[in-house]
Amino acid sequence: MASFLTRSAIRAASQTPRLAFPKAPSSTTSALRWSSIQNPLSSSSRRFLATTPEKQPSLRLGSEAPNFQAKTTQGDIDFHQWLAGSWAILFSHPADFTPVCTTELGAFSRLAPEFAKRGVKMIGLSANDLSSHSRWIADINEVAATDLQFPIIADADRRVAFLYDMVDAQDLANIDEKGIAFTIRSVFVIDPAKKIRLTMMYPASTGRNTAEVLRVIDSLQTVDKKGIATPIDWTVGQDVIVPPSVSTEDAKKKFGNVREVKPYLRYTKA
Ligand code: BEZ
Repeated sequence: MASFLTRSAIRAASQTPRLAFPKAPSSTTSALRWSSIQNPLSSSSRRFLATTPEKQPSLRLGSEAPNFQAKTTQGDIDFHQWLAGSWAILFSHPADFTPVCTTELGAFSRLAPEFAKRGVKMIGLSANDLSSHSRWIADINEVAATDLQFPIIADADRRVAFLYDMVDAQDLANIDEKGIAFTIRSVFVIDPAKKIRLTMMYPASTGRNTAEVLRVIDSLQTVDKKGIATPIDWTVGQDVIVPPSVSTEDAKKKFGNVREVKPYLRYTKA
């Protein structure tokens, strides 16, 4: 993963003593007080660590994508084995035979050649069982005039959905007849090192934008290959940004022409 930190920032971070977080004491000690007792950090750093380690979100950009075993429409998988060192997208859907989900899966299926061109494997997830998925795929193929080829995980018990936090805390209408939370519309882009590189979370009521999923994959792959950053609304072929960690002199040696709008805003060709 490309780093945009300056050398001195990296040095300072690496010299900061690593914190060993012991287990939080009894519930009577507030998380904040406990945190400030345990963490010999500046007050601004402490603000971000005001929850106990157990309560910190576990899936962050750069986290390893958690492994799981699941039944899919193409057989049982171990997720890490299925990834097999490839880029991948894992995307979830609230339920089979629902209108927005049907349009989304049809669109992703029609774009399968675009994902393949970028070396990205695709895997969907919906909170129903395999027999339901098979019948639903027939509908998707009919409606979108496609031939859906990627696996869809059968996650009727929401085991994978909870592992990846693909659930909605607030939309109490978004539950099934047993009162279990449906999954929301999440996208995880995972790189060949199994690291989560991008997450998107959409509510059940709003279909995603497939062009944006492809655009961020293009950006991530270009960033990794060239050591650049990409500006707002960037698409392949447009100028890219020289990251702050690279001097203009070094950027000229590496990329050729550099267009300097501000000392901190410099464009070049990828
Ligand atoms: C849909 O796919 O249309 C949908 C699913 C769950 C809640 C709302 C909409």
